[in-house]
Amino acid sequence: MNELQNELDELDRQGLRRFWRCVEAVDGGRILIDGQWRVHMASNNYLGLAAHPRVVAAAREALEQYGAGAGSARLIGGTFPPHEQLEEELARFKQAEAAIVFPTGYMANLGIITTLTGPEDLLIGDRLNHASLIDACRLSRASFRVYPHLDAEKLNDLLKQRRAKYRRVLIIAEGLFSMDGDCSPLKEISELARQYDAWLMIDDAHGTGVLGKTGRGSLEAAGVSPDGILQMGTLSKAIGSVGGYLAGPKAAVELIKNKARSFIFTTALPPACAAAAHEALRVIQQEPAIREQLWNNVRHWTQGLKKMELPLVSDNSPIVPVQVGDNRLTMEIAQSLFEQGVYAPGIRPPTVPEGQARIRTSVTALHTPDDLDNALKVFEKTIGVIHR
Ligand SMILES: Cc1ncc(COP(=O)(O)O)c(C=O)c1O
Repeated sequence: MNELQNELDELDRQGLRRFWRCVEAVDGGRILIDGQWRVHMASNNYLGLAAHPRVVAAAREALEQYGAGAGSARLIGGTFPPHEQLEEELARFKQAEAAIVFPTGYMANLGIITTLTGPEDLLIGDRLNHASLIDACRLSRASFRVYPHLDAEKLNDLLKQRRAKYRRVLIIAEGLFSMDGDCSPLKEISELARQYDAWLMIDDAHGTGVLGKTGRGSLEAAGVSPDGILQMGTLSKAIGSVGGYLAGPKAAVELIKNKARSFIFTTALPPACAAAAHEALRVIQQEPAIREQLWNNVRHWTQGLKKMELPLVSDNSPIVPVQVGDNRLTMEIAQSLFEQGVYAPGIRPPTVPEGQARIRTSVTALHTPDDLDNALKVFEKTIGVIHR
């Protein structure tokens, strides 16, 4: 086991050793850690629906009715009414023919990509795609190419050079990028997919509930019809529960039900989590004021950071990363913020590329103006270090 300790020591030397902080409670935009309340700038629960009374009530009711766990895989006695209701609602919400739910978003990406593509196919993805997409591409045994972040022109070049050599080509991009807070140029990308007879898969883990006039996500925000597009997402961010899904053409959903190993060979999502996600989707559609509040808070936060001339990676979504670069310095800044009452995590490689470590801040609808102003004051005090 000495060699394992050496590996850990090496992570320490590179400033890459990871740890967690145990969360004692979350209340609105604040988080209790080590007995102290701090401003919570690390949540993906963008709309605060994880604790919304309607969502909690739906989960509690399903918990009492169906118990804590599903007890079986989906195809072997693990499908309960909340799973079917959720899938129907997801298909409606995402304006797709059908939808299918996995226990996590990570498993959804593995299942979708490995079922729909194989060794005769080509996958083309944005260079900053999430680790679960990259792992799925590797597992699929298809050829795999990346284009520079958000670069539709380079994607066009790749398609032009390579389309004819493969049976299927699947273009894969995040709608709203989890660590960068910027958006794929979906109009251009969807047009390229059409032009080159390629399929398009959007991972809208962070866009769903947040982007678009009615919160349907990145495609709605970009004005792109979801017709024929494979829309993947998670139930764990703005939807406030846990789970992942594909919404898309019926044949794709049906094939995944029959062949996706990460769907078939695993216990179903607990029914209470499905019921919570179902209710959250209804809240998203019935209470647009929550999303408006989120965007007011995004403006409040980004304007404050911009006044300090901090090097923001982007400033047009609830994900607002502050670029630092060095791994150790990033963690020192995160620690300093933490000690002053703000929880905003340092993000290091391989989550982001080498040399691009950053403080990832995220805004939710639950932050009060006081929360944000308090956090801004702390950033202002720490600013010298970030500019160093
Ligand atoms: C872009 C993206 N895709 C997929 C996932 C995986 O989702 P889940 O946390 O539900 O496994 C995440 C987050 O974890 C993500 O940020």
